[in-house]
Amino acid sequence: MTETFTVHVEPLGATLSCREDQTILDACLRNGVWLPHACTHGTCGTCKAEVLDGDVDLGDASPYALVDSDRDDGFALMCVAKPCEDVVIEGDVDLEDGVEIHPVRDFSGTVTALDDIAPDVRRLVITLSEPLAFNPGQYVQLNLPDGDNRPYSIASPPSEPDVIELHVKRSPDGVATDGWIFADLASGDEVSLSGPYGQFFYRPAKDKPLILLGSGTGLAPLKSILRHVMELDDEGEWEHDVVLYHGVAQVDGLYDRDWFSDAADERDWFSYRPAVSREEHEGRRGRVPVLLAEDFPKAGGNAAYICGNPSMVEDTMKALMKSRLFPRDIYREDFFDSADRAAGGHVVRSPLIKR
Ligand SMILES: Cc1cc2nc3c(=O)[nH]c(=O)nc-3n(C[C@H](O)[C@H](O)[C@H](O)COP(=O)(O)OP(=O)(O)OC[C@H]3O[C@@H](n4cnc5c(N)ncnc54)[C@H](O)[C@@H]3O)c2cc1C
Ligand code: FES
Repeated sequence: MTETFTVHVEPLGATLSCREDQTILDACLRNGVWLPHACTHGTCGTCKAEVLDGDVDLGDASPYALVDSDRDDGFALMCVAKPCEDVVIEGDVDLEDGVEIHPVRDFSGTVTALDDIAPDVRRLVITLSEPLAFNPGQYVQLNLPDGDNRPYSIASPPSEPDVIELHVKRSPDGVATDGWIFADLASGDEVSLSGPYGQFFYRPAKDKPLILLGSGTGLAPLKSILRHVMELDDEGEWEHDVVLYHGVAQVDGLYDRDWFSDAADERDWFSYRPAVSREEHEGRRGRVPVLLAEDFPKAGGNAAYICGNPSMVEDTMKALMKSRLFPRDIYREDFFDSADRAAGGHVVRSPLIKR
Protein backbone atom coordinates (compact mmCIF):
# COMPACT_ATOMS: atom_id res chain seq x y z
CA MET A 1 0.00 0.00 0.00
CA THR A 2 1.21 3.52 -0.83
CA GLU A 3 2.13 5.41 2.32
CA THR A 4 1.27 9.05 2.91
CA PHE A 5 3.43 11.45 4.91
CA THR A 6 3.06 14.94 6.30
CA VAL A 7 4.97 17.85 4.75
CA HIS A 8 5.31 20.97 6.86
CA VAL A 9 6.31 24.09 4.88
CA GLU A 10 8.18 26.90 6.63
CA PRO A 11 8.01 29.88 6.91
CA LEU A 12 4.34 29.55 5.93
CA GLY A 13 3.53 27.12 8.70
CA ALA A 14 1.43 25.14 6.19
CA THR A 15 0.97 21.38 6.64
CA LEU A 16 -0.18 19.01 3.90
CA SER A 17 -0.18 15.34 2.94
CA CYS A 18 2.16 13.87 0.35
CA ARG A 19 2.22 10.28 -0.94
CA GLU A 20 5.53 8.46 -0.94
CA ASP A 21 5.37 8.30 -4.76
CA GLN A 22 4.50 12.00 -5.13
CA THR A 23 6.95 14.89 -5.38
CA ILE A 24 6.80 17.47 -2.61
CA LEU A 25 6.30 20.23 -5.19
CA ASP A 26 3.33 18.41 -6.67
CA ALA A 27 1.72 17.97 -3.26
CA CYS A 28 2.27 21.65 -2.43
CA LEU A 29 0.94 23.00 -5.73
CA ARG A 30 -2.13 20.77 -5.60
CA ASN A 31 -2.84 22.05 -2.09
CA GLY A 32 -2.51 25.71 -3.11
CA VAL A 33 0.85 26.12 -1.32
CA TRP A 34 3.18 28.06 -3.60
CA LEU A 35 6.80 26.98 -3.97
CA PRO A 36 9.12 28.47 -6.60
CA HIS A 37 9.53 26.21 -9.62
CA ALA A 38 10.23 26.38 -13.35
CA CYS A 39 11.17 23.20 -15.25
CA THR A 40 9.55 20.66 -12.84
CA HIS A 41 12.03 18.03 -14.10
CA GLY A 42 15.05 18.46 -11.79
CA THR A 43 17.08 20.56 -14.24
CA CYS A 44 16.99 24.26 -13.37
CA GLY A 45 17.41 24.35 -9.58
CA THR A 46 14.62 26.92 -9.06
CA CYS A 47 12.77 24.69 -6.59
CA LYS A 48 15.78 24.04 -4.33
CA ALA A 49 14.73 24.10 -0.68
CA GLU A 50 16.23 23.03 2.62
CA VAL A 51 14.92 19.92 4.33
CA LEU A 52 14.96 20.94 7.99
CA ASP A 53 13.71 17.65 9.34
CA GLY A 54 12.98 14.16 8.00
CA ASP A 55 14.38 12.13 5.14
CA VAL A 56 13.59 12.58 1.42
CA ASP A 57 14.41 10.58 -1.71
CA LEU A 58 16.30 13.14 -3.87
CA GLY A 59 14.89 11.62 -7.08
CA ASP A 60 16.31 12.46 -10.50
CA ALA A 61 17.96 15.73 -9.45
CA SER A 62 20.55 17.05 -11.89
CA PRO A 63 24.02 16.97 -10.28
CA TYR A 64 24.50 20.50 -11.67
CA ALA A 65 21.28 21.90 -10.21
CA LEU A 66 21.82 20.15 -6.86
CA VAL A 67 25.57 20.02 -6.33
CA ASP A 68 27.32 17.83 -3.74
CA SER A 69 27.58 20.67 -1.21
CA ASP A 70 23.80 21.27 -1.49
CA ARG A 71 23.20 17.59 -0.79
CA ASP A 72 25.60 17.71 2.18
CA ASP A 73 23.82 20.80 3.51
CA GLY A 74 20.40 19.10 3.40
CA PHE A 75 18.95 20.76 0.29
CA ALA A 76 16.72 18.99 -2.24
CA LEU A 77 14.91 19.84 -5.47
CA MET A 78 11.25 19.83 -4.53
CA CYS A 79 10.08 18.96 -8.07
CA VAL A 80 11.76 15.55 -7.89
CA ALA A 81 12.13 14.93 -4.14
CA LYS A 82 9.70 12.52 -2.47
CA PRO A 83 9.19 12.07 1.27
CA CYS A 84 10.45 8.91 3.01
CA GLU A 85 8.85 10.01 6.29
CA ASP A 86 7.21 13.15 7.73
CA VAL A 87 9.33 16.14 6.67
CA VAL A 88 9.77 19.84 7.37
CA ILE A 89 11.05 22.02 4.52
CA GLU A 90 11.91 25.69 4.27
CA GLY A 91 10.95 27.27 0.94
CA ASP A 92 11.41 30.71 -0.59
CA VAL A 93 7.69 31.35 -0.74
CA ASP A 94 7.64 35.09 -1.50
CA LEU A 95 5.57 36.18 -4.48
CA GLU A 96 4.91 39.67 -5.76
CA ASP A 97 1.66 41.46 -4.97
CA GLY A 98 -1.30 41.05 -7.28
CA VAL A 99 -0.55 37.44 -8.21
CA GLU A 100 -3.32 34.88 -7.84
CA ILE A 101 -2.12 31.30 -7.48
CA HIS A 102 -4.22 28.57 -9.06
CA PRO A 103 -3.81 25.08 -7.57
CA VAL A 104 -2.59 22.35 -9.92
CA ARG A 105 -5.26 19.87 -11.01
CA ASP A 106 -5.66 16.99 -13.46
CA PHE A 107 -7.66 17.51 -16.65
CA SER A 108 -8.91 15.40 -19.50
CA GLY A 109 -9.55 16.83 -22.93
CA THR A 110 -10.07 16.23 -26.63
CA VAL A 111 -7.75 17.38 -29.38
CA THR A 112 -10.00 19.61 -31.48
CA ALA A 113 -7.35 20.93 -33.88
CA LEU A 114 -3.87 19.85 -34.88
CA ASP A 115 -2.27 22.02 -37.56
CA ASP A 116 1.17 22.43 -39.07
CA ILE A 117 1.88 26.15 -38.68
CA ALA A 118 5.58 26.21 -39.60
CA PRO A 119 8.16 23.59 -40.55
CA ASP A 120 8.28 21.17 -37.60
CA VAL A 121 5.84 23.25 -35.53
CA ARG A 122 2.28 22.16 -34.72
CA ARG A 123 -0.57 24.03 -33.10
CA LEU A 124 -2.50 21.77 -30.77
CA VAL A 125 -5.92 22.91 -29.59
CA ILE A 126 -7.35 20.94 -26.67
CA THR A 127 -10.94 21.30 -25.49
CA LEU A 128 -10.95 20.52 -21.78
CA SER A 129 -13.68 18.73 -19.87
CA GLU A 130 -13.61 21.51 -17.28
CA PRO A 131 -12.11 25.01 -17.14
CA LEU A 132 -8.41 25.46 -16.34
CA ALA A 133 -7.60 28.62 -14.37
CA PHE A 134 -4.07 29.92 -15.00
CA ASN A 135 -1.95 33.04 -15.24
CA PRO A 136 -0.90 34.17 -18.73
CA GLY A 137 2.51 32.60 -19.44
CA GLN A 138 2.06 29.39 -17.42
CA TYR A 139 2.31 25.86 -18.80
CA VAL A 140 0.70 22.42 -18.59
CA GLN A 141 2.22 18.96 -18.33
CA LEU A 142 0.86 16.89 -21.21
CA ASN A 143 0.70 13.20 -20.32
CA LEU A 144 2.24 10.87 -22.91
CA PRO A 145 0.72 7.49 -23.76
CA ASP A 146 3.66 5.82 -21.96
CA GLY A 147 2.79 7.57 -18.67
CA ASP A 148 5.60 10.16 -18.80
CA ASN A 149 4.82 13.85 -19.35
CA ARG A 150 6.22 16.97 -21.07
CA PRO A 151 5.73 20.66 -20.30
CA TYR A 152 4.07 22.89 -22.93
CA SER A 153 3.26 26.58 -22.49
CA ILE A 154 -0.30 27.76 -22.98
CA ALA A 155 -0.61 30.21 -25.88
CA SER A 156 -4.26 31.10 -25.32
CA PRO A 157 -5.40 33.66 -22.71
CA PRO A 158 -6.88 32.83 -19.27
CA SER A 159 -10.20 34.30 -20.48
CA GLU A 160 -10.60 31.10 -22.55
CA PRO A 161 -10.24 28.47 -19.80
CA ASP A 162 -12.10 25.65 -21.61
CA VAL A 163 -9.96 25.48 -24.75
CA ILE A 164 -6.19 25.73 -24.60
CA GLU A 165 -3.77 26.26 -27.47
CA LEU A 166 -0.25 24.81 -27.45
CA HIS A 167 2.60 25.32 -29.95
CA VAL A 168 4.83 22.27 -30.22
CA LYS A 169 8.19 22.01 -31.98
CA ARG A 170 9.38 18.63 -33.21
CA SER A 171 12.57 17.32 -31.57
CA PRO A 172 14.49 14.78 -33.67
CA ASP A 173 13.85 11.35 -32.11
CA GLY A 174 11.93 13.04 -29.30
CA VAL A 175 9.59 10.70 -27.42
CA ALA A 176 6.67 13.15 -27.14
CA THR A 177 7.04 14.99 -30.43
CA ASP A 178 8.59 12.70 -33.07
CA GLY A 179 7.11 9.64 -31.38
CA TRP A 180 3.58 10.89 -30.72
CA ILE A 181 2.46 14.50 -31.44
CA PHE A 182 3.98 14.47 -34.95
CA ALA A 183 3.23 10.77 -35.51
CA ASP A 184 0.03 9.23 -34.12
CA LEU A 185 -1.84 12.04 -32.42
CA ALA A 186 -4.93 13.12 -34.35
CA SER A 187 -7.85 15.50 -34.02
CA GLY A 188 -10.55 13.81 -31.93
CA ASP A 189 -8.08 11.96 -29.68
CA GLU A 190 -8.52 12.05 -25.91
CA VAL A 191 -5.59 13.43 -23.90
CA SER A 192 -4.88 14.15 -20.26
CA LEU A 193 -2.77 16.83 -18.66
CA SER A 194 -2.17 18.68 -15.41
CA GLY A 195 -1.60 22.32 -14.60
CA PRO A 196 -1.08 25.17 -14.30
CA TYR A 197 2.66 25.26 -13.60
CA GLY A 198 5.46 27.79 -13.59
CA GLN A 199 6.32 31.25 -12.44
CA PHE A 200 6.88 32.74 -15.88
CA PHE A 201 3.71 34.77 -16.03
CA TYR A 202 2.58 38.34 -16.46
CA ARG A 203 3.01 40.37 -13.25
CA PRO A 204 0.27 43.00 -13.02
CA ALA A 205 2.01 44.81 -10.17
CA LYS A 206 4.94 45.78 -12.42
CA ASP A 207 2.78 48.29 -14.32
CA LYS A 208 5.52 49.01 -16.90
CA PRO A 209 6.05 48.81 -20.66
CA LEU A 210 6.75 45.24 -21.75
CA ILE A 211 9.51 43.73 -23.87
CA LEU A 212 8.49 40.20 -24.89
CA LEU A 213 11.26 38.08 -26.41
CA GLY A 214 10.79 34.56 -27.74
CA SER A 215 12.57 32.12 -30.00
CA GLY A 216 10.73 29.40 -31.92
CA THR A 217 7.79 28.06 -29.93
CA GLY A 218 8.94 30.30 -27.06
CA LEU A 219 6.37 32.58 -28.69
CA ALA A 220 3.56 30.55 -27.05
CA PRO A 221 3.47 32.03 -23.53
CA LEU A 222 4.19 35.49 -24.95
CA LYS A 223 1.09 35.21 -27.12
CA SER A 224 -0.93 34.39 -24.02
CA ILE A 225 0.49 37.43 -22.23
CA LEU A 226 -0.11 39.67 -25.25
CA ARG A 227 -3.68 38.47 -25.71
CA HIS A 228 -4.32 39.11 -22.01
CA VAL A 229 -2.90 42.64 -22.32
CA MET A 230 -5.03 43.25 -25.44
CA GLU A 231 -8.09 42.35 -23.39
CA LEU A 232 -6.97 44.80 -20.69
CA ASP A 233 -6.65 47.41 -23.44
CA ASP A 234 -10.18 46.66 -24.67
CA GLU A 235 -11.37 47.36 -21.14
CA GLY A 236 -9.41 50.64 -21.02
CA GLU A 237 -6.97 49.23 -18.46
CA TRP A 238 -3.73 49.23 -20.45
CA GLU A 239 -1.52 52.27 -21.01
CA HIS A 240 1.97 50.98 -21.88
CA ASP A 241 3.95 50.05 -24.96
CA VAL A 242 4.60 46.39 -25.76
CA VAL A 243 7.39 45.25 -28.09
CA LEU A 244 7.49 41.60 -29.14
CA TYR A 245 10.52 39.93 -30.77
CA HIS A 246 10.16 36.52 -32.41
CA GLY A 247 13.47 34.85 -33.18
CA VAL A 248 13.61 32.16 -35.87
CA ALA A 249 16.29 30.80 -38.19
CA GLN A 250 14.29 31.20 -41.39
CA VAL A 251 11.32 33.29 -42.48
CA ASP A 252 8.98 30.31 -42.74
CA GLY A 253 9.43 29.82 -38.97
CA LEU A 254 7.52 33.07 -38.33
CA TYR A 255 4.24 31.36 -37.56
CA ASP A 256 1.20 33.51 -36.75
CA ARG A 257 2.99 36.37 -38.49
CA ASP A 258 -0.23 37.78 -39.97
CA TRP A 259 -1.98 37.69 -36.62
CA PHE A 260 0.83 39.62 -34.90
CA SER A 261 1.17 42.06 -37.82
CA ASP A 262 -2.57 42.76 -37.74
CA ALA A 263 -2.45 43.27 -33.98
CA ALA A 264 0.40 45.77 -34.46
CA ASP A 265 -1.58 47.60 -37.18
CA GLU A 266 -4.61 47.84 -34.92
CA ARG A 267 -2.87 48.97 -31.70
CA ASP A 268 -0.36 51.81 -31.80
CA TRP A 269 1.18 50.70 -28.48
CA PHE A 270 2.19 47.29 -29.88
CA SER A 271 5.22 46.60 -32.10
CA TYR A 272 5.96 43.17 -33.67
CA ARG A 273 9.63 42.59 -34.57
CA PRO A 274 10.59 39.36 -36.34
CA ALA A 275 14.25 38.42 -35.86
CA VAL A 276 15.36 36.11 -38.68
CA SER A 277 18.92 34.98 -38.12
CA ARG A 278 19.87 32.76 -41.05
CA GLU A 279 18.10 34.03 -44.15
CA GLU A 280 17.96 37.29 -46.05
CA HIS A 281 14.42 38.69 -46.14
CA GLU A 282 12.69 42.01 -46.51
CA GLY A 283 12.87 42.72 -42.74
CA ARG A 284 15.76 42.90 -40.31
CA ARG A 285 18.24 40.07 -40.02
CA GLY A 286 19.83 38.95 -36.74
CA ARG A 287 19.28 37.07 -33.51
CA VAL A 288 16.94 38.44 -30.85
CA PRO A 289 19.69 39.67 -28.47
CA VAL A 290 21.41 41.55 -31.30
CA LEU A 291 18.27 43.34 -32.51
CA LEU A 292 17.29 44.05 -28.92
CA ALA A 293 20.67 45.69 -28.19
CA GLU A 294 20.26 47.88 -31.30
CA ASP A 295 16.74 48.95 -30.33
CA PHE A 296 17.24 49.32 -26.58
CA PRO A 297 20.65 50.75 -25.67
CA LYS A 298 18.85 51.60 -22.43
CA ALA A 299 16.11 49.18 -21.37
CA GLY A 300 15.58 50.45 -17.80
CA GLY A 301 11.94 51.16 -16.93
CA ASN A 302 10.60 48.13 -18.80
CA ALA A 303 9.65 44.62 -17.67
CA ALA A 304 11.02 41.83 -19.90
CA TYR A 305 9.77 38.29 -20.46
CA ILE A 306 12.15 35.95 -22.31
CA CYS A 307 11.23 32.45 -23.45
CA GLY A 308 12.65 29.75 -25.69
CA ASN A 309 15.75 27.64 -26.05
CA PRO A 310 18.15 28.07 -23.12
CA SER A 311 21.04 29.60 -25.08
CA MET A 312 18.81 32.29 -26.61
CA VAL A 313 17.28 33.02 -23.20
CA GLU A 314 20.71 33.36 -21.58
CA ASP A 315 22.12 35.62 -24.34
CA THR A 316 19.02 37.80 -24.32
CA MET A 317 19.15 38.15 -20.57
CA LYS A 318 22.76 39.28 -20.76
CA ALA A 319 21.84 41.82 -23.46
CA LEU A 320 19.05 43.20 -21.26
CA MET A 321 21.32 43.50 -18.25
CA LYS A 322 23.93 45.25 -20.40
CA SER A 323 21.17 47.70 -21.33
CA ARG A 324 20.70 48.35 -17.62
CA LEU A 325 17.50 46.44 -17.02
CA PHE A 326 17.53 45.18 -13.45
CA PRO A 327 17.27 41.41 -12.91
CA ARG A 328 14.18 41.99 -10.78
CA ASP A 329 12.39 43.16 -13.95
CA ILE A 330 13.42 40.17 -16.07
CA TYR A 331 11.46 36.91 -16.19
CA ARG A 332 12.69 33.87 -18.10
CA GLU A 333 11.40 30.49 -19.19
CA ASP A 334 13.99 28.05 -20.52
CA PHE A 335 12.55 25.30 -22.69
CA PHE A 336 14.80 22.59 -21.25
CA ASP A 337 14.50 19.17 -22.85
CA SER A 338 15.98 15.73 -22.22
CA ALA A 339 19.22 16.67 -23.99
CA ASP A 340 19.62 19.70 -21.69
CA ARG A 341 18.85 17.49 -18.72
CA ALA A 342 21.48 14.98 -19.80
CA ALA A 343 23.97 17.83 -20.21
CA GLY A 344 23.12 19.29 -16.82
CA GLY A 345 20.89 22.12 -17.99
CA HIS A 346 21.75 25.75 -17.97
CA VAL A 347 21.61 26.51 -14.29
CA VAL A 348 21.19 30.16 -13.43
CA ARG A 349 23.69 31.19 -10.79
CA SER A 350 22.18 34.46 -9.63
CA PRO A 351 19.31 34.22 -7.16
CA LEU A 352 18.20 37.63 -8.45
CA ILE A 353 17.11 36.27 -11.80
CA LYS A 354 13.46 35.35 -12.02
CA ARG A 355 12.49 32.18 -13.81
C1 LIG B 1 8.69 24.99 -18.72
C2 LIG B 1 8.79 24.42 -20.12
C3 LIG B 1 7.88 24.79 -21.07
C4 LIG B 1 7.98 24.28 -22.38
N1 LIG B 1 7.08 24.70 -23.31
C5 LIG B 1 7.22 24.27 -24.60
C6 LIG B 1 6.34 24.75 -25.63
O1 LIG B 1 5.42 25.54 -25.40
N2 LIG B 1 6.54 24.29 -26.89
C7 LIG B 1 7.55 23.41 -27.21
O2 LIG B 1 7.70 23.06 -28.38
N3 LIG B 1 8.38 22.93 -26.25
C8 LIG B 1 8.23 23.34 -24.96
N4 LIG B 1 9.07 22.84 -23.99
C9 LIG B 1 9.99 21.71 -24.35
C10 LIG B 1 9.17 20.42 -24.33
O3 LIG B 1 8.66 20.19 -23.04
C11 LIG B 1 9.94 19.12 -24.69
O4 LIG B 1 11.17 19.12 -24.05
C12 LIG B 1 10.12 18.96 -26.17
O5 LIG B 1 8.87 18.95 -26.82
C13 LIG B 1 10.86 17.64 -26.47
O6 LIG B 1 10.11 16.53 -26.01
P1 LIG B 1 10.30 15.10 -26.66
O7 LIG B 1 9.74 14.10 -25.72
O8 LIG B 1 9.82 15.09 -28.07
O9 LIG B 1 11.86 14.96 -26.72
P2 LIG B 1 12.78 14.13 -25.70
O10 LIG B 1 12.57 12.69 -25.85
O11 LIG B 1 12.60 14.71 -24.35
O12 LIG B 1 14.21 14.49 -26.29
C14 LIG B 1 14.56 15.83 -26.63
C15 LIG B 1 15.80 15.79 -27.50
O13 LIG B 1 16.89 15.33 -26.72
C16 LIG B 1 17.46 14.18 -27.31
N5 LIG B 1 17.83 13.34 -26.17
C17 LIG B 1 17.02 12.58 -25.40
N6 LIG B 1 17.70 12.00 -24.40
C18 LIG B 1 18.99 12.41 -24.55
C19 LIG B 1 20.19 12.14 -23.84
N7 LIG B 1 20.21 11.35 -22.76
N8 LIG B 1 21.32 12.74 -24.27
C20 LIG B 1 21.34 13.57 -25.35
N9 LIG B 1 20.22 13.85 -26.07
C21 LIG B 1 19.07 13.28 -25.66
C22 LIG B 1 16.39 13.60 -28.22
O14 LIG B 1 16.93 12.91 -29.32
C23 LIG B 1 15.65 14.84 -28.67
O15 LIG B 1 16.23 15.44 -29.81
C24 LIG B 1 9.00 23.35 -22.70
C25 LIG B 1 9.91 22.97 -21.71
C26 LIG B 1 9.82 23.50 -20.44
C27 LIG B 1 10.83 23.10 -19.41
S1 FES C 1 11.70 23.26 -10.98
FE1 FES C 1 12.82 21.81 -9.87
S2 FES C 1 14.74 21.78 -10.83
FE2 FES C 1 13.55 23.05 -12.12
